[in-house]
Amino acid sequence: MCGIIGYVGGRPCRELILTGLERLEYRGYDSAGFALLAETGGVVEAVRAVGNLSQLRTAAGLNAGSSATSGVGHTRWATHGRVTTENAHPHTSADGSVLVVMNGIIENYVELRSELQDLGVVFRSDTDTEVIPQMIAREYRGDLAAAVREVLPRLGGHFAFVAAHVDEPDRLVASRRECPLVLGIGDGERFIASAIPAFLRETREVMLIEDDEVISVEAGSHTVWRGDLEIGPRPPQRVDWDEDAAEKGGYETFMLKEIHEQPAALWDTIGDRLKPDGSVELIGLGLDDAALARVERIHVVACGTSYHAGLVGRYLIEDWARVPVHVEVASEYRYRTCLAGPGDLVIGITQSGETADTLAAMRVARERGAHVVALTNIMGSQATRDSDGVLYTRAGLEIGVAATKTHTAQIMALSLFALKLGRLKWALTSAGALDLADELRRVPDVVEAYLESSAPEEVMATAATYADRAFFLYLGRHVGVPVCFEGALKLKEISYIPTEAYPAGEMKHGPIALLEEGSPVVVVATDGHVFDKVVSNIQEVRARGARVIAVATEGNEEIESHADEVLWAPRTPALLSPIAAVIPLQIFAYGLARSRGLNVDQPRNLAKTVTVE
Ligand code: G6P
Repeated sequence: MCGIIGYVGGRPCRELILTGLERLEYRGYDSAGFALLAETGGVVEAVRAVGNLSQLRTAAGLNAGSSATSGVGHTRWATHGRVTTENAHPHTSADGSVLVVMNGIIENYVELRSELQDLGVVFRSDTDTEVIPQMIAREYRGDLAAAVREVLPRLGGHFAFVAAHVDEPDRLVASRRECPLVLGIGDGERFIASAIPAFLRETREVMLIEDDEVISVEAGSHTVWRGDLEIGPRPPQRVDWDEDAAEKGGYETFMLKEIHEQPAALWDTIGDRLKPDGSVELIGLGLDDAALARVERIHVVACGTSYHAGLVGRYLIEDWARVPVHVEVASEYRYRTCLAGPGDLVIGITQSGETADTLAAMRVARERGAHVVALTNIMGSQATRDSDGVLYTRAGLEIGVAATKTHTAQIMALSLFALKLGRLKWALTSAGALDLADELRRVPDVVEAYLESSAPEEVMATAATYADRAFFLYLGRHVGVPVCFEGALKLKEISYIPTEAYPAGEMKHGPIALLEEGSPVVVVATDGHVFDKVVSNIQEVRARGARVIAVATEGNEEIESHADEVLWAPRTPALLSPIAAVIPLQIFAYGLARSRGLNVDQPRNLAKTVTVE
């Protein structure tokens, strides 16, 4: 969470920093700030404001520091200290000489702060970050990089920060531990930021900063140290991302754009991995076919929407490959007695590759000797470094906080994995695998046809009629369970309406008590072997006066006699229906939140990446 950016170069950088922050706003948006340094030393402009970037722009006005050619910026998602201007970044040392923007957490900040206070240092914020500029200022002897190298070993936790000193305006110094930080290398200029989109319009040459490295960045050069040892230059990598990924491309929101990008995300995730003979090639798992065939047990760890993809993955892997799968939220897994070990496969699903709990759960399993694979969307992310192998989704950059295309791409990647394992385990015949491969290949096409039809508009229109409801119950069975979990999560995330999601068979053990005349109940009732059971559950809730909004497979004529509303989902085989059925629920949540006038791309209190426990 939090986005940081720094610039040093030959151009006026005020607008570069503000635009860069806008590109990072998905990381946090409760407050923001920036500071620009004067060429002759000192701070020429420093502004902080509560709210998102537009509020910062308003607070900053038009031009105060417009000629400055170096500076830092920050967009915050509060962890330590309330959302106030004083707690917004950049933070400065008491004498004003050192400025710092940080993402992450300094876990030993209480101890560091009281040590400094005993020395008479006065603090102005409640944040953990403020200890960093205070410590750097005390160590400073005319060389900012040397001071940062002194301070770094004393910092506990996980963080990325950029520091500036008023006496060295043509230099920024940065470091990271388990939080992302990338250098963007331009012609006579350097960017340093939490993520590549911050500077993608300006340069595509990037260098990833490694844990505990200190980097000094000047307009035309950069120097990296590990401890006191200067490390030789690392060649930059060139990113081929589409810069429009960070734009809305004609859609009213990023979320809507990303919902419509799902066919492409699914096609790309299949890519060349699915062979004409139905075999699947997954390069990068870190396990050859023989080793994969020996896997007897799989654990999946993840958070939020990625966890829901993992739940779908369990059905696929257990059905197609007959290997038992345990799926658990990472924040619980990491603190339980871990029984994974050599011979087990642990899959950490995290689109960002940054979620702290998922990384920690992967680490626990890895320490015990399990083979850990990261299923992620971001190349070079922390999850890819903390694992033995990687399986990438190829969904492209996702900016909307509520995950959509990365979720369906995760399910597709898990389907490919399950198909591969099914073949290796001889649980699928070659004819069976070939059929499944054909079905998988068809999924992006049916999703595309659905999104281009009038169905999404119809879902939005239905959603608008429910905008004033105070509560929704979501039900499903079998693969419909994770779909209803995800549908309910989408709705609560972006519309703030309380939802409860339950396996339909469990409904009579509690949630049914919540139903009143007219209570809306969303039921995932796609075609499959539990369809009739789901219909029975529909009867039970209707008998209590509930209004049923069913998600059903296109062409199912029976459902209309049971439901008050039907949200059609494209036709796929039952086990692949979670991809098809979640899309109408994404659109339902979207339509409902928009008709309540809400900002779906930046829901309150949430952040796209959660790099804190
Ligand atoms: C946050 C986001 C969710 C996401 C979850 C896990 O809560 O708001 O959209 O599903 O983190 O993120 P990850 O990057 O690990 O998939």
